[in-house]
Amino acid sequence: MPRAVGEEAREATVKRRVRKKLYELGYDDADWVEEAKVTFYPSRDGDADFLVCIGGQPLIVIEAEGDEKKFEDGFRQARAYAVAYNPENPIPFLWVAAGKLDKMFRAQPTQTGIGVRYEPIDRLLSREELLDAIKIEKPETFQRDLQLYERFLNVFQKALRIVQEQSRPNLKGELGLRSLAGYLMAKVKGDDSELRKTKITKRTLQQLDKLFEQFGDLGRHEGWAMAYGFRQIVRPFFRGGEYGRYFTPPEVIQFLVSATDPKPKERILDFACGSGGFLGQAARHLLETHKAPPDEIAECLFGCDIDDTCMIATRTFLELMLPEKQKKLNIWRKDGLTARKRFGWEDEVEGFDEGQFDVVLSNPPAGKLPSDFGFLESEGYQFAGKGKGRQNLYEVAFLEQAIKMVKDGGRIGIVLPEGIFANAQLKPVRDWLLKTVTVEAVVSLPRGIFPFTPSKMCAVVMRKVKPRKKRRTLLAEVSRKGMLNQLQEILKTLKECH
Ligand SMILES: C[S@@+](CC[C@H](N)C(=O)[O-])C[C@H]1O[C@@H](n2cnc3c(N)ncnc32)[C@H](O)[C@@H]1O
Repeated sequence: MPRAVGEEAREATVKRRVRKKLYELGYDDADWVEEAKVTFYPSRDGDADFLVCIGGQPLIVIEAEGDEKKFEDGFRQARAYAVAYNPENPIPFLWVAAGKLDKMFRAQPTQTGIGVRYEPIDRLLSREELLDAIKIEKPETFQRDLQLYERFLNVFQKALRIVQEQSRPNLKGELGLRSLAGYLMAKVKGDDSELRKTKITKRTLQQLDKLFEQFGDLGRHEGWAMAYGFRQIVRPFFRGGEYGRYFTPPEVIQFLVSATDPKPKERILDFACGSGGFLGQAARHLLETHKAPPDEIAECLFGCDIDDTCMIATRTFLELMLPEKQKKLNIWRKDGLTARKRFGWEDEVEGFDEGQFDVVLSNPPAGKLPSDFGFLESEGYQFAGKGKGRQNLYEVAFLEQAIKMVKDGGRIGIVLPEGIFANAQLKPVRDWLLKTVTVEAVVSLPRGIFPFTPSKMCAVVMRKVKPRKKRRTLLAEVSRKGMLNQLQEILKTLKECH
């Protein structure tokens, strides 16, 4: 419904008041974005009036309403944006400014660990108080190059909006993301001939070129900040769906990468790579912990995903991360469950064979196998544990595949539903597992950190060696608060045990 002119004018006055307050509270222009695009799901989005984002972390959603009577609407709107922006980890603060009224709210975990509750706090927090209050637990990934990361993130958000606003051809929603990815890849490679495939019009291209002018030649950038900025704009498109497309929390990724410790020249695989979180962290680990030459890193990374957009997201993320060094990147659109090509849409791949990888890192989907995997059963697929029925679960098939794909002695870091270790019907799986590999650690993760699954998940570290008689498995549980520190402690203990 079109809004009355008076209403718009009142809202504009409130927005001016919010800007003034932000300055008074010590925030700087660079700390917030106005009209920040939030995607609820592909092709349904909206604009949060203000998004305070510091150190690359969105911290406050501010909704301005012209009238105090609309306070409740403002609150509901702000909460919807805060959750939609990042369902795994909703934005921690809301600020509703309605007429002359201002109120801030802070996110609190619910008792079940699922969802979030926003509770009012007694005053508006200054910048310093805000940073103090959140004591951001940032995985190392986001601590470096923060300013540059933020600049890229801002520009990528604007660029995505420009592309999605193009009407002919229509590049709304996910199409816009894919086209922007194509644009960025072409720019990083310095190959404008690839731009044709993006369906971006000349006029939109000019707008994009102007926007990116400030960064100079993208292919010459040191890529971490650029890559993680891109991965952040991919996030709203990761909302579950048939194949379980969602982000793995960075703390869990960091833990499994450090625990499996990929070394230079080793072949590292994520067979359900999503947005490339594990492969990106493995690249950082190789570079920073093992001082691997950047030129060699790309050829060690192997990833595939059944979903085209995921494949594009991972490939772009890694291309941006390793500009000019990514020539041998092996990221495919492929079913990760079988080495053979079974579906017409699968890429031709090389080197995706059993026993070929030193490390498998993944957060594969879980639950019932999708209908198009019926062939597994009709071809007589039966889980190695010789069980029947419920064992033909997606996670069991991926667990078995992980073990097949690593070499003898290879390491596996995988996220699995805890049911594998608890469910009575899955006992044959456990019996088989304990005979086949050495399970080094099972870390139970808090419910609710994987937003699209009600199951409790765990991070599992394994080695493909026959278990010794007196083997030791580290069992641990972490809670949501301070998860990063807890995982680091567990890592230390794990290194001492093995
Ligand atoms: C939980 S996500 C992985 C998230 C990833 N670790 C990240 O942080 O971005 C699971 C992924 O598995 C993919 N997937 C589902 N079935 C698959 C299959 N049979 N082969 C390959 N990938 C599959 C989905 O498309 C989804 O991207």
